[in-house]
Amino acid sequence: MDFNLTEEQLMIRDAARDFAQTELLPGVIERDEKQQFPAEQIKKMGELGFLGMMVDPQYGGSGLDTVSYVLAMEEISKIDASASVVMSVNNSLVCWGLEKYGSEAQKQKYLVPLAKGEIIGAFCLSEPEAGSDATSQKTTAIDKGDYYLVNGTKNWITNGNNASVYLVIAQTDVEKGHKGINALILEKGMEGFEIGSKENKLGIRGSDTHSLMFTDVKVPKENRIGEDGFGFKFAMKTLAGGRIGIASQALGIASGAYELALKYSKERKAFGKEISKHQAIAFKLADMATQIEAARMLCMKAAWEKDQHLNYDLSGAMAKLYAADMAMNVTVEAVQIHGGYGFVKEYHVERLMRDAKITQIYEGTSEIQKIVISRSILSD
Ligand code: CAA
Repeated sequence: MDFNLTEEQLMIRDAARDFAQTELLPGVIERDEKQQFPAEQIKKMGELGFLGMMVDPQYGGSGLDTVSYVLAMEEISKIDASASVVMSVNNSLVCWGLEKYGSEAQKQKYLVPLAKGEIIGAFCLSEPEAGSDATSQKTTAIDKGDYYLVNGTKNWITNGNNASVYLVIAQTDVEKGHKGINALILEKGMEGFEIGSKENKLGIRGSDTHSLMFTDVKVPKENRIGEDGFGFKFAMKTLAGGRIGIASQALGIASGAYELALKYSKERKAFGKEISKHQAIAFKLADMATQIEAARMLCMKAAWEKDQHLNYDLSGAMAKLYAADMAMNVTVEAVQIHGGYGFVKEYHVERLMRDAKITQIYEGTSEIQKIVISRSILSD
């Protein structure tokens, strides 16, 4: 077993770290406060190849492995989880789904600009009454011959306003249940496609989360991904990889908070010495470092399995479950180590604590990961 990273992987990690420090750190507090989408920063991330990291260069991507993606996600998330969720959705859900299951024409038309970061995409599964229970889609895509007529509402859509391309999961044939669901490519500006107001969120406040409303939107048949009725499996397979991205985001949020707490604990003095020299703080740091390393190993294992073309449903769900819960614990401890300073915005850890919470909720709550894991371990 070789735990060493390759020269290329180390280079990607360092490039992401530099980018996060120089381009994302300035203004991150203000963007969070004002709920401002990091538009300029995302544009630069696209130019550097961070938005289509795993896509084949023939489709405009960087052609890198999933391990490199995890490394980059961790570094970007240490500083700005609002930027890293854009990166995660574009890479794992939108680009991966199109590259794996899209037609050649769909790849040329949509994947190429998405992988180059010229435009960004959104993945639209959740609905007012179908977040965790994803088979209960109420959005309909009625087959009208050479097009689908789409009606319904999607909720909690990341990149909701800034995306240009939307992968929408909708029910075509209710009788067939999840086998009657399709995944369709919608474009911003299609007649009858409206974007709702932005959600005012606890965390990842720089990312734009919107509801979407569809009223008689005509979507050409050639915009369906895969065979008729493949939509639910498309969503499940895509989310399985997405969970590696969000697990890496949680890992990054936690390691960002830990690094700040470690630094602070070596500077801050109380009772005559640096607080890191008090066992109460040193033990907290020891727990945090151990939990972060365990999450990193789970993320790497899932990424490695994906790169080896093995099944990564279980490892991805385990990575996401553990890393998200770990990020919540570690960020709370980072605030605690900072004391009163941890409670104010200038020290960053309160934002990281708020950002950590979403990793236990999106791309499947922690409870959903337990469903996936328990089904897998009980099926043998
Ligand atoms: N790969 C391939 N097929 C899969 C699969 C996978 N990973 N998981 C399930 N399926 C298939 C099953 O085999 C089954 O097909 P068959 O009937 O042909 O065997 C079909 O899908 C239905 O599966 P289940 O019976 O297991 O479905 P279920 O209703 O019990 O639910 C679930 C399964 C895992 C709970 C699923 O509903 C789920 O993952 N829910 C969470 C959805 C989610 O993550 N939502 C987040 C929204 S996206 C987001 O957050 C993005 C963002 O903005 C950041």
